[in-house]
Amino acid sequence: MDLEKLIHDRIRDVPDYPKPGVLFKDITPLLADHVAFAGVVDAIVNHHGRGTIDKIVGIEARGFILAAPVAYHFGAGFVPVRKKGKLPARTYEETYDLEYGTETIEVHADAFGPGERVLIVDDVLATGGTARAAAELVGRTGAQVVGLSVLLELSFLRGRDRLGDLDVHTLVTV
Ligand code: PRP
Repeated sequence: MDLEKLIHDRIRDVPDYPKPGVLFKDITPLLADHVAFAGVVDAIVNHHGRGTIDKIVGIEARGFILAAPVAYHFGAGFVPVRKKGKLPARTYEETYDLEYGTETIEVHADAFGPGERVLIVDDVLATGGTARAAAELVGRTGAQVVGLSVLLELSFLRGRDRLGDLDVHTLVTV
């Protein structure tokens, strides 16, 4: 089975979660299938090429699950971007709009060396607010964002349009 079809088959639509009218994309069946999970990690690593990136950023929480094995297979370090209040040392923070209210995410201020090349990894690109805030955070540390890799892009939410000229790599688009 080709990877794109496998990914489609293993992402479960859950209606009315977390609230009525929302069709939630549940990646847990994909993570539980070792062929699909490994295929996703390998596809992200192969797209960029080993040796081209210094650090992989994973975005809390589901982004961590993909970003950590990607970092391992790249031979790159892993850096978490977390929701406000979860990181213990000095941080930079970015606040962005959600459908209702706002969210704030943080990264440790000393997470990267100057000019380090950074790939951001997450499970879903929806409105793009999270990815844009993560890219801003990395930029503020003095590191260089070389791209964003996501498992699933919800293209009808036009997240890509908020990301300027960032190199966006998605494995599956709906
Ligand atoms: C989801 C997803 C992305 C983000 C995408 O995370 O994992 O990080 O939303 O949405 P956006 O493109 O509209 O910003 P969520 O905030 O649900 O966090 P979780 O992984 O901790 O559940």
